[in-house]
Amino acid sequence: MTSDGSSDLDKYLKQNDSRIREELFEFLRIPSVSARSEHNADTARAADWLKQSMEKAGMKATIHPTSGHPIVIGEWRNAPGAPTVLVYGHYDVQPAEPIDLWTSPPFEPEIRDGKIYGRGSVDDKGQLFLHIKAIEAHLATRKRLPLNIVLLAEGEEEVGSANLEEFVEANQDLLKADVAVISDSSMFAPGIPSILSSLRGLAYFQIDVQGPKCDLHSGSYGGAVVNPATALARIVATFHDENGHIAIEGFYDNVRVWESRILDQMKKLPFDEGNFLEETGSPALGGEKGYTILEQLWARPTCEVNGLLSGYTGEGAKTVLPAKAMAKVSCRLVPDQDPADIERLMDAHIEKVAPKGVTVTVKHLHGGRPWRAELDGPIFDAARRALKKAFDREAVIVGEGGSIPVVGDFQRILGMPVLLVGFGLPGENAHAPDEWMSEDNFRKGMIAMAALWDEYGQNGKP
Ligand code: BES
Ligand code: MN
Ligand code: MN
Repeated sequence: MTSDGSSDLDKYLKQNDSRIREELFEFLRIPSVSARSEHNADTARAADWLKQSMEKAGMKATIHPTSGHPIVIGEWRNAPGAPTVLVYGHYDVQPAEPIDLWTSPPFEPEIRDGKIYGRGSVDDKGQLFLHIKAIEAHLATRKRLPLNIVLLAEGEEEVGSANLEEFVEANQDLLKADVAVISDSSMFAPGIPSILSSLRGLAYFQIDVQGPKCDLHSGSYGGAVVNPATALARIVATFHDENGHIAIEGFYDNVRVWESRILDQMKKLPFDEGNFLEETGSPALGGEKGYTILEQLWARPTCEVNGLLSGYTGEGAKTVLPAKAMAKVSCRLVPDQDPADIERLMDAHIEKVAPKGVTVTVKHLHGGRPWRAELDGPIFDAARRALKKAFDREAVIVGEGGSIPVVGDFQRILGMPVLLVGFGLPGENAHAPDEWMSEDNFRKGMIAMAALWDEYGQNGKP
């Protein structure tokens, strides 16, 4: 449809604005924290809520139990001959802790300064919900969609999507589509709609160092017994050399060098190092020498300590030689690194560098493949037009440092291109206290996705 053709959709969304906001708030109030079993009933309730919301929008909806949290599928397939799209999102959220750092309670959504605050507002409930409302706008105003849609909402993205790959393998007919569309990412900057060209993958480890059988008096035993905390610190210190280059043998073997076309595009983005530094609140930036910040974030792999635990950390001093130490470590991966290879390399590295006198074990917690987009074809052209219409500005192509494990699976198992178009913003505090989504982006996201179906429905099939 032409750009004015969608105005009935825009009007519907505008007229229903406050009801839509109320419904979003209802969704955000459900603490569907996938990592915490005490929230399992809430997570199940979020799945039920979604099913009803999809039905209200005019889709057929079903809940598919897994050995973890359920998958919710919505379908509308009444456009024979037109293309089919698979829309993906996740209804689970990260834990809200530390709660005392939130300005308003994490599961009591609130709008301040045009920002919708609440856990999951941007990651990913708000972005999933805007798709449901874009579909509703079509079905409510025109009784039909210009294409067929399958909506897949999972409840385990934040814990590694362990059951999704199997579900995708087993349900290829249900999920078969011409293209997948995902809104679970951010725009490059306010007002600049963005299409993702890459995601990093992930290999996540837990390293346990066991020393003596229990904590010891650090005077009576210290000096003679190997200290697990020091041993772990030594291990962790071997991950990088003095240039911030990862020193695990073979780590870079499959790292693809980005085409100059992509790097040139990246250099043209209005990236402001000062803003970035300010956003982090860090005293200075570091990282791998010889690469720009955007390259470090999008095109280069990492090995990061996510958590360290050992010994006495309470008030005052306690003289103790800890019995054990533990680290959580994640490697972000880039094409064509494979998480299984990185797991083998990490195991071999730890075995090589582990100090004598302690027992070191490495657990593999979860992984996901990196991904690069094709960026050619009717869905990308349609997305550029739809975004232009909603934001009144040309979209930019950006990379992304985060991971969405299922994206690689969609491409590999279902063989379809994936369009990643997100409506978050820098500084949105995803996974952190005071997570927010821009209210303006929420509205424009609905308009853009409603317009996308018009644009792609007409041009998606030759
Ligand atoms: N929505 C994010 C992925 C993301 C992060 C996209 C930043 C764009 C910008 C997703 O919910 C997420 O947090 N993924 C995890 C994956 C992990 C739990 C397997 C991540 O990247 O840490
Ligand atoms: Mn997400
Ligand atoms: Mn997330």
